[in-house]
Amino acid sequence: MTDFDLLGLAQEARRRAYAPYSGFKVGAALVDTRGKVFTGCNVENASYGLTICAERVAVTKAISEGSQQFSRLLITGGEEIITPCGACRQVLAEFAPHLVVICASDSGMMIQYDLEELLPQGFSLRQRED
Ligand code: THU
Repeated sequence: MTDFDLLGLAQEARRRAYAPYSGFKVGAALVDTRGKVFTGCNVENASYGLTICAERVAVTKAISEGSQQFSRLLITGGEEIITPCGACRQVLAEFAPHLVVICASDSGMMIQYDLEELLPQGFSLRQRED
């Protein structure tokens, strides 16, 4: 599964986003260590604070289907390159503190981070493996 394959899957998920309030659609594709992909889109709510980001949809889908070890996440906000919000960084770090996070635009531009760069010294009750 190439990063461009992942971008295609994230774009497909992004088209399913429910974002009537912000109008900003996000798509995510999370890959587990066995190569299985879980996609997500943002799901907004009239009570704005209950909105769930695309990344957390993808990770909760994966956990509920039995996957807990992840290697890569690609996210796309369409034409714009976006990075995961702080809440999503914390949730992703719970399972994969060194997750490879690929931030991609529709044009195929990609910027890659180690999650540790995006959330240095994040909160954890576990012994960090780094
Ligand atoms: N959003 C995500 O889905 N992921 C992010 O990392 C940043 C923000 C969504 C939440 C909301 O539905 C919309 O983008 C605008 O903030």
